[in-house]
Amino acid sequence: MTTNQKVLTWLEEMKALTQPDKVVWIDGSEDQLNALREEAVSTGELIKLNQEKLPGCYLHRTAENDVARVEDRTFICTTKREDAGPTNNWMAPAEMYAMLREIYNGSMKGRTMYVVPYIMGPAGSPFSKVGIELTDSIYVVLNMNIMTRMGQIALDELGDGDFVKCLHAKCDVDPEKRYIVQFPEDNTIWSCNSAYGGNVLLGKKCFALRIASYMGYKEGWMAEHMLILGLTNPAGEKKYVAAAFPSACGKTNLAMLIPPAVLGDYKVETVGDDIAWIRIGEDGRLWAINPEAGFFGVAPGTSEKTNYNALEATKKNTIFTNVALCDDGTVWWEGLTKEAPAHCIDWLGKEWTPESGTKAAHPNSRFTAPAVNCPCISPEFEAPNGVPLSAIIFGGRRAKSAPLVYQSFDWNHGVFVGATMASETTAAATGATGVVRRDPMAMRPFCGYNMGDYFQHWIDMGHKPELTNPPKIFHVNWFRRDEDGNFMWPGFGDNMRVLNWILDRCDGKVGATETPIGYVPKKEDLNLTGLDIDDKTLTELLSVDKDVWRAELPGIKEYFDQFGDKLPAGIQEQYDALAARLK
Ligand code: OXD
Ligand code: MN
Repeated sequence: MTTNQKVLTWLEEMKALTQPDKVVWIDGSEDQLNALREEAVSTGELIKLNQEKLPGCYLHRTAENDVARVEDRTFICTTKREDAGPTNNWMAPAEMYAMLREIYNGSMKGRTMYVVPYIMGPAGSPFSKVGIELTDSIYVVLNMNIMTRMGQIALDELGDGDFVKCLHAKCDVDPEKRYIVQFPEDNTIWSCNSAYGGNVLLGKKCFALRIASYMGYKEGWMAEHMLILGLTNPAGEKKYVAAAFPSACGKTNLAMLIPPAVLGDYKVETVGDDIAWIRIGEDGRLWAINPEAGFFGVAPGTSEKTNYNALEATKKNTIFTNVALCDDGTVWWEGLTKEAPAHCIDWLGKEWTPESGTKAAHPNSRFTAPAVNCPCISPEFEAPNGVPLSAIIFGGRRAKSAPLVYQSFDWNHGVFVGATMASETTAAATGATGVVRRDPMAMRPFCGYNMGDYFQHWIDMGHKPELTNPPKIFHVNWFRRDEDGNFMWPGFGDNMRVLNWILDRCDGKVGATETPIGYVPKKEDLNLTGLDIDDKTLTELLSVDKDVWRAELPGIKEYFDQFGDKLPAGIQEQYDALAARLK
């Protein structure tokens, strides 16, 4: 399928290491994929769902110990420790390769190695990059088929060029020997002893964020943990925004939002729900593509009401992971319907009833759905040059402190707003949930180099002379709670009201109130038509409590202190300025 000598030499090396019985090149054809689906069903790796109700859909269950990304076992291996920085696990590349070689040694004996060439980005786009994943998992091949442009198309794109070398071996799914390792200087990713999506679909977090962020740093572009959406107003004006939220904080929901009908003829179209690759365009704006071809979304909480479009996207050709299996061969998860089914098989494969007292679906259960299934997919989804960004939005899950929305004073302040993002943790990664942690630009688990350098790269991008028309930068918080713990803002479709204010600000159509943390909306500039919200709640949602913000400062300082000399002067200046404004 290729004469690229770099591919062939590397493949021989990896074969000698893992010693598979058989090697199968994935060409991306339906015949080959169908045969793999059948094989996976025959071994129990996949369960075929009700093909009348869910055509082309399958269910997969991972091992009980293998249900989320493992950040404590994820490494960035650069020659110098300081190039990985204090927020990443690090080991010297030679040491890591030596340790992993022992694990990979003979790990594919008796198994088949699949060679999966794939493109991140549309074929032929100047943004796009090619990777090749070697894996011994059919589940991985079938998911890569949904999440990337996979097969011969990728080898054609590659020609005799360079590619990201990805090796995945399931081994014994032993959590003690589980490693997700990026070698940014070698364009290499090695993952072993896992079969959970975020750890093994190596085009996604490992390549499109960790390796790509490093490439972007070296080459003058950006790889970000951001959704991209297009918003058309009743006058027919279309604008695009990108937004970064930590994992499981509603990126997919925002990307596919349905505007409330009472607001008139607005339309939201989805370009991406998780990752954006961003470059400066010839017109002096930032342009973004979604390098992925599908959605790897969190299932629980997804319903007709919360995200109709995502749910529609899962109705065909979708792989579900760790959701519950209903008696009629369909699937269920908490939040899909108000009433749970009277009986189902839970994510562990056990009998389940509402009386079981356990969750039927794992809280981080997922759907892998083709983007083209999404009713609101943007016509620009495949656009080779992407879409121009009017605004960048940062957000987190914060019960207190952050107001509903605010705008940064300028680019550097916007970078500071992103750099000080914090959120309560969710089930997308292993570890305690609900704990506040700093998650700059939602990239803490995904930045493939020193985060101090990453902040500087952000500052530098904003000041490049070619960037004559940078997007404005905002922060949102849909998750503010009152004293009784209730959410104060309805969220979901009503977030459109906030997007509208953001775009009005970009157009200079509305004013704002200046506060120590940035510009917040004047109440009258938010379109609240048809929304049942009282004045007290609204005032509170838009308020900035200086005491609460002053109390944030030591935590921010402590977080920044770990970067030492790598903390950009531009960020320190912003910190000092905020502290002064809060006095
Ligand atoms: C994801 C994540 O799966 O961020 O997108 O964990
Ligand atoms: Mn994500």
